[in-house]
Amino acid sequence: MSSRLAAQPPPGPRGLAFPRRFLAFRRQPLVFLTRLARDYGDVAAARLGPRTIVLVSDPELIREILVVRGREFIKSQALERARLLLGQGLLTSEGELHLRERRMIQPAFHRERIAGYGRVMTELAARFGGGWSAGQVVDMAAEMMRLTLSVVGRTLFGADVAAEAAEISAALTDAMGLMGRVTNPLAPLLDRLPLPATRRFQRARARLDATIYRLIGERRERAGTGEAEGDLLSLLLSARDPEGGGPLDDRQLRDEALTLFLAGHETTANALAWTWYLLARNPEAEARLHGELDTVLDGRPATVEDYGRLPYTVRVLTESMRLYPPAWAVGRQALRPLEVGGYALPARQPILMAPWVVHRDARWFPEPEHFDPDRWLPEREAALPRFAYFPFGGGARKCIGESFAWMEAVLVLATLARSWRPRLLPGPAVQPLPLITLRPLGGIPMRLEPR
Ligand code: HEM
Repeated sequence: MSSRLAAQPPPGPRGLAFPRRFLAFRRQPLVFLTRLARDYGDVAAARLGPRTIVLVSDPELIREILVVRGREFIKSQALERARLLLGQGLLTSEGELHLRERRMIQPAFHRERIAGYGRVMTELAARFGGGWSAGQVVDMAAEMMRLTLSVVGRTLFGADVAAEAAEISAALTDAMGLMGRVTNPLAPLLDRLPLPATRRFQRARARLDATIYRLIGERRERAGTGEAEGDLLSLLLSARDPEGGGPLDDRQLRDEALTLFLAGHETTANALAWTWYLLARNPEAEARLHGELDTVLDGRPATVEDYGRLPYTVRVLTESMRLYPPAWAVGRQALRPLEVGGYALPARQPILMAPWVVHRDARWFPEPEHFDPDRWLPEREAALPRFAYFPFGGGARKCIGESFAWMEAVLVLATLARSWRPRLLPGPAVQPLPLITLRPLGGIPMRLEPR
């Protein structure tokens, strides 16, 4: 690393307008971050109220932070807040605890297990599509959330949570409301006051806890009976750290299970919802997708064996997550003072790397707003810098559910698009709403047309 510029902080807007900038960031983070990178370059700092954030947008520097020098950083303050809900599960833990949890959970995501989950995914997607009727208007975002929630319920917990899906989704939305306080310097104080948002959060957490502890209880009762042994919860119940240590207690089980429950459905649901939206707006790509499904499936339902035979379907999803990355920003903080790209950063410096920004950078993706699945033809993809596309993060904290998510997204899209062609209702473009994940603001109302 060069120390030539070590004394310099990264460039960025200066002056006393930081309260206004803070509001601009809170109101429209995607617009704010895009402009910050455009105006100040690949390492840019902006003081927002009491805090300064550093946005890193160069793929090579992102690789350096996430992979090469991953140990010099911990997760962001946003994730520290997520601990209010998730405790010390895989997403929120650090250091040794994280390594131990990762070792214990990894077997649930081995290739042969994912194939097993794939069978459940196609079955549930087919059943879901069977419940749709021609001409019906649905909110595709809510539909996909319902479907991925039932997939996670069945594959990870061996339970049918379809009946509680709406309740669980509402509890999650309420719980995430409090995460919005992450940029609020008074958050620790507000959290202790009996404000409506705080009370809503506490109620939501209690509802989610009740569901998770019920699932744990049911699984303990069934343990050893041979029923549904392939699911994640039974695996966690019998998990032992290969490097020593006892089983997980109920509290740890709760943290891991809730983490996977949340991380395992909302992201994939958003990826699928945005994909339906993009397909409806891009008839040529939609026709090619249908062509692939008709040829490969030849009139029969998709099965797990078809995964791997649907390259265009994969390209559609890849391109959809380029334009609408469900995890729109990944945060870190430096453990000690260090240099990034030749700029000096103090200890605890919050650093953001935003797939939203990098995925729409014309240096890597010409005509970045254009939906073009063929960007992902192997020869074109090979020309991209490694971290120009990072919807699943990278390094030791890379998404553990990536292959699960791919399997699910491909099989759900193939199963439903074989029989259905959802149409957008007339109206303005749907705007993204960057909460923890990138949701469509107001949902995506669509009319279901059979094919
Ligand atoms: C399209 C779907 C998905 C996307 C875009 C996505 C994205 C991500 C990203 C970006 C991270 C890294 C965050 C960071 O480094 O700060 C992550 C971590 C994680 N994801 Fe996913 N994810 C998806 C699906 C899933 C699924 C299906 C599961 C589980 C079934 C899952 C479970 C997790 C967990 C547990 C972590 C934390 C891993 C660790 O820190 O060791 N995700 N995900």
